[in-house]
Amino acid sequence: MKFTDLSSADFYRDPYPLYQRLRDEGRLVPIAPNTFITGHYDIIHALLVDRKMGKGYLDTVRVRYGEEAVHQPAFQAMSRMFLMMNPPAHTRLRALLMKAFNGRQIDLLREVTQAVADELIDALPVDRPFDLVSNFSVPMPIRMICRLMDVRIDDASLLSAHVGELVQSLEIAPLNAERLASANAAARELEAYFKDVIEKRRRKPGTDLISTLLSVNDDGDAFSEDEIISNVILLFFAGHETTSNMIGNALISLHRHPDQLDKLRTHQELLPQAVSECMRHDTSVQFVGRVALEETQVDGVTLPKGTIVLILLGAANRDPAYFDKPDELIIERPENTNRSISFSGGIHYCLGARLATLQLEIALETLLKRMPNLCLTNLHDLQWHSRNTLRGVTSLIATH
Ligand code: HEM
Repeated sequence: MKFTDLSSADFYRDPYPLYQRLRDEGRLVPIAPNTFITGHYDIIHALLVDRKMGKGYLDTVRVRYGEEAVHQPAFQAMSRMFLMMNPPAHTRLRALLMKAFNGRQIDLLREVTQAVADELIDALPVDRPFDLVSNFSVPMPIRMICRLMDVRIDDASLLSAHVGELVQSLEIAPLNAERLASANAAARELEAYFKDVIEKRRRKPGTDLISTLLSVNDDGDAFSEDEIISNVILLFFAGHETTSNMIGNALISLHRHPDQLDKLRTHQELLPQAVSECMRHDTSVQFVGRVALEETQVDGVTLPKGTIVLILLGAANRDPAYFDKPDELIIERPENTNRSISFSGGIHYCLGARLATLQLEIALETLLKRMPNLCLTNLHDLQWHSRNTLRGVTSLIATH
């Protein structure tokens, strides 16, 4: 297995055959010096909950780009996000935000999420085809996250474009110079934008997520200004690209399995199971990374301190050892589909899982109700983003 295997047009279109080959090749497969890759569910689960495994984002940059690259603005910005941190810094920032993301708080957002979905559908043309990605799946989570962060909705599309460039720095396969330059430029733009927002919010705090994050330094100056800015950017991008791509991927999986779509149309009480199964079938976050913080044993293999493991969540979700007929979308799976690992596991389990699930349920439910004859006209000719981490399509052309 080579990094280039993970960046071909065929792979972007359908990564699952390669994941199967990877699983056949071995349980922990070497891909670079000191670096393994795995697509086996049981190993991935064990790695995610192993406290001796942690984050080492800049180590994974070093392995792929060389020592000098760690100073690039995009990699620096990503490395300061708590998504990439280990305890105790991770624990402190995460704990601060947990309250805002707990079930009760998120349930309060049901009405506003529904209103956003309805508003976007009201604006769709009825007499001609439209793009569900740019008109629905992208704006829906952005509007939600702008609201939660109290960021101007008019700035959303520009911010969203920058985020699209920045998230390239999460790719497993190394970026070429042009893509890296665009990720760096986006990091600078986002930092400048949010620096300004933060200054204003410091002067006039509110009840939004940025104000919550700013309160971290109230009891001591533990986080630098750059760290605060990066974590504001984290909240913005984590809540948006992931969810928008997942709405699209779920629609594609359902429309590729018309019997399951029909079942959902007639049994809307199956919606929570359908969302969970769509996330298993084709999740938007395909990959996460971990580093051995100290020597540890995984699957009978000793991983010395500093060993990097590239974890393919998308592959775990299709592991035939865990899921019967894994390539099929089966809403009523006999086994518990919550075993899907799409929101990761251990201490980095997705902070926004509840919010993402709410948005997915409302997005699908509203589309099913309001557009019962929705037809995806480019289903057989989809353009997938040239990315191996955040999986999604560039457009979904549809008619009522
Ligand atoms: C379908 C949509 C989503 C998917 C598939 C997803 C997936 C993930 C995954 C896999 C991780 C763990 C990364 C790791 O283990 O290294 C994660 C972490 C995270 N997610 Fe999500 N996510 C989604 C939506 C959201 C939303 C709506 C938010 C809200 C802002 C959010 C905020 C976060 C944050 C802050 C983290 C970092 C948690 C930590 O490191 O402790 N996510 N997400």
